[in-house]
Amino acid sequence: MRIIVTGGAGFIGSHTAVELLDKGHEAIIIDNLSNSSEKAIDRIEKITGKKVRFYKEDLCNKDGLLSIFEREKADCVIHFAGLKAVGESVKLPYKYYYNNIVGTLNLIDVMNKCGVKNIIFSSSATVYGTPSVVPITEECPKGICTNPYGQTKSMIEQILTDVQKADRSFNVVLLRYFNPIGAHPSGLIGENPNGIPNNLMPFITQVAIGRLSELGVFGNDYDTPDGTGVRDYIHVMDLASAHVHALKKIADGSGISIYNLGTGKGYSVLEVIKSFEQATGIKIPYSFRPRREGDIATCYASAKKAKEELGWEAKYDIIDMCRDSWNFQRLNPNGYDD
Ligand code: NAD
Ligand code: UD1
Repeated sequence: MRIIVTGGAGFIGSHTAVELLDKGHEAIIIDNLSNSSEKAIDRIEKITGKKVRFYKEDLCNKDGLLSIFEREKADCVIHFAGLKAVGESVKLPYKYYYNNIVGTLNLIDVMNKCGVKNIIFSSSATVYGTPSVVPITEECPKGICTNPYGQTKSMIEQILTDVQKADRSFNVVLLRYFNPIGAHPSGLIGENPNGIPNNLMPFITQVAIGRLSELGVFGNDYDTPDGTGVRDYIHVMDLASAHVHALKKIADGSGISIYNLGTGKGYSVLEVIKSFEQATGIKIPYSFRPRREGDIATCYASAKKAKEELGWEAKYDIIDMCRDSWNFQRLNPNGYDD
């Protein structure tokens, strides 16, 4: 299939582009590089030995988007493009609503005009809010998102659901990611956060490389086995492969479907630190800090539906995830910067 990958220079998009090319699909990337580097495109080509067509374009520029779609005649869109920093979204809500919502509305309009009716969307476990039960199944109701970033994910899910309801020739797959970490085993592509990382694994790798002095563990009084927050970490290569599985579903005319993408296992912050130390032999100094506002105690997926309906399940374990995250950081101490 010919796949337009929005946000394909970013962390998850670049890994998915590799997986698409490796599985014989064509990948056409659109990215405004607001949170990524064109070097990721070169690295995708290096890993796969295949050419990628790349357009530096903003989804908020509808005319530019239309001309790409008219030229490329794609079969499907995988829509990663969006801003994703939770804390920044609280400070700059307009920026987040504008970029994520307007970008998606433009995309839907252009897809309609060009007869492209298949879309896979990057959603997040954040749409569940504070889960009432774990593991979280897709039947669990959506919850209250405490920040504009989460709201945009929830709203875009609703927009795509309504679009599909009004036009049954649309096929929509909503993928709710849990906590993506890891990197391509080559160490050529990986997560490259701007500034001080907010998320746990990039923070740990930057402590390991010596860019940060110690990790602050946010809360040790949660109702969890060791008091620290429990999450469902998933290797980005597994995530990438789930998108390729979802393409098969879409090609069969799936209507609308929703899948959790997680391993189904939860690890506490202290368990992640221990796993990282075991995988790399590097000690991570840490100290306990107050809870971070908006955090929940425990969040992990039921991964059953994706297994049953997509024939996909996660293969990498927490040690693989730590090893590959570190490998990218070690080989790229300053990310994609020279
Ligand atoms: P990322 O920031 O690395 O990638 C997003 C890409 O989209 C970047 O390359 C950025 O330059 C591009 N982009 C942003 N706005 C754009 C616009 N208007 N036009 C064109 N390009 C634009 O993030 P990621 O971690 O790869 O996440 C990909 C998607 O998955 C995002 O939608 C994110 O919200 C979602 N998601 C991520 C996580 C996570 O933990 N990484 C978890 C759940 C959901
Ligand atoms: C966060 C976002 C979520 C988003 C996801 C992926 C919040 C409240 N949630 O999820 O909306 O979809 O990232 O981008 O921001 N931790 C520390 N020290 C740190 C960093 C994190 O102890 O320096 C802890 C957290 O308290 C949490 C766990 O590590 O228990 C994972 O945190 P993180 O990687 O930020 O992911 P989430 O909070 O699950």
